[in-house]
Amino acid sequence: HKARFTLDPAFTVGEVNPRLFGSFVEHLGRCVYTGIFEPGHPAADEAGLRQDVLDLVRELGVTAIRYPGGNFVSGYKWEDSVGPVEDRPRRLDLAWRSTETNRFGLSEYIAFLKKIGPQAEPMMALNLGTRGVAEALELQEYANHPAGTALSDLRAAHGDKDPFGITLWCLGNEMDGPWQTGHKTAQEYGRTAAETARAMRQIDPGVELVACGSSSQSMPTFAAWEATVLEETYDLVDYISLHAYYQPEDGDLDSFLASAVDMESFIENVVATADHIGAKLKSKKKINLSFDEWNVWYISQWHEIENSGARDWAEAPRLLEDNYSVMDAVVFGSLLIALLRHADRVTVACLAQLVNVIAPIMTEPGGPAWRQTTFFPFAQASKYGRGRVLDVRVDSPKHETKKYGETDLLHATAVRAEDGTVTVFAVNRSRTDALPLDVALSGLDLTRVVEHSALADADPDARNTLDDPERVAPHPVDGTALRDGTLSAVLEPLSWNVIRLA
Ligand code: AHR
Repeated sequence: HKARFTLDPAFTVGEVNPRLFGSFVEHLGRCVYTGIFEPGHPAADEAGLRQDVLDLVRELGVTAIRYPGGNFVSGYKWEDSVGPVEDRPRRLDLAWRSTETNRFGLSEYIAFLKKIGPQAEPMMALNLGTRGVAEALELQEYANHPAGTALSDLRAAHGDKDPFGITLWCLGNEMDGPWQTGHKTAQEYGRTAAETARAMRQIDPGVELVACGSSSQSMPTFAAWEATVLEETYDLVDYISLHAYYQPEDGDLDSFLASAVDMESFIENVVATADHIGAKLKSKKKINLSFDEWNVWYISQWHEIENSGARDWAEAPRLLEDNYSVMDAVVFGSLLIALLRHADRVTVACLAQLVNVIAPIMTEPGGPAWRQTTFFPFAQASKYGRGRVLDVRVDSPKHETKKYGETDLLHATAVRAEDGTVTVFAVNRSRTDALPLDVALSGLDLTRVVEHSALADADPDARNTLDDPERVAPHPVDGTALRDGTLSAVLEPLSWNVIRLA
């Protein structure tokens, strides 16, 4: 049977924060070096930033960009990354068993954001693994204090007279993970995060701070971790973080296609945990969610490399360079839908990562840059997913999945822009059947279908590669109609759809 839902502007989830379309640049593999930054490349500007990559980053529509890690940040010494390049030390990067040259650092990161344009915003992660309150304060002073102190004057002497104006800060990274350098218990981390937050607010009460939540919903400490950390930090932080990566397990593609079921439950469970602590503390304040790492990631392939001992302190090695298929992009689109469906509480999200490392944009050193399949859903969601999310309750045909039981074949959301136009984002999870969809429009002054675009392919394994960089792209869909207040469409098997109504 058909899938259906109703759209009514009286029933909404909330306003989309532009920060929902954030991304992440980590000093990992070739994300920075030969990714965004490659002096000597024909497309590089005088600062070594690749213009071809910058063009794609703008087209992707990313906003907040988290930096410099990730696991990397837990060994990061920010002082190494500033000042004359020739004086910057080479360091061991324990997280990725690579050598960090520090040729790209804090100042270059801020310059990169400026070149993207005003939509780009810094989101700076602090090292709370091997460092603590003092170093966080020093970095904050160096980055944000206008002038007249040792560290603000040092920034000016380094050529950056204007402060960087970093508002959004991550208090560490994945501190619940045993792999993290300086891994802590929830109690230890909660105390460190609270002390750091309190001190940072002494410099600037207006900073926005993200406490580390769990590295995934499957962590053994999940939920207890969030509760303990928030008991310590509730009044001092603004966000709790979530990270999630998905891949097919044991060839179970239907469960993989339903990954957003896990993502939505993760979000709802963190909201419940945060609100429980708020209730306990009799606080009126709400903690929002920063989903600051999410993606499809073939992490088991990485673990094989990791355990093979093959990595040997190389500079910018090829790591985590997943090449995404059409099926991966459909799952990815569904993860975007999950974030939008919770836009009332998820007010920051970062696609991990931006270039080369599990990324929508790929580059070849000295060669071209191109779009992976996942590029398209992100660019479309960032472009058309601005405004108010409408409350979508689907009535959909279902199928059985091993991991999540009975699951809707349709996953959907809709966003109403300020000008009254509406965009429906929908995924058909069926690998075999097209899905007819009817959307009843109530109280919406819409008369026509502007566009129905789909990402789907007869070969769900199709990918864009160096040799064939334009193999996959969204295509227009004919036959989608809006008549007598009902939108009718047919969603191709295994497809990501964007239907724009005006
Ligand atoms: O994005 C890759 C890695 O995944 C990050 O460094 C880490 O935070 C997470 O485990």
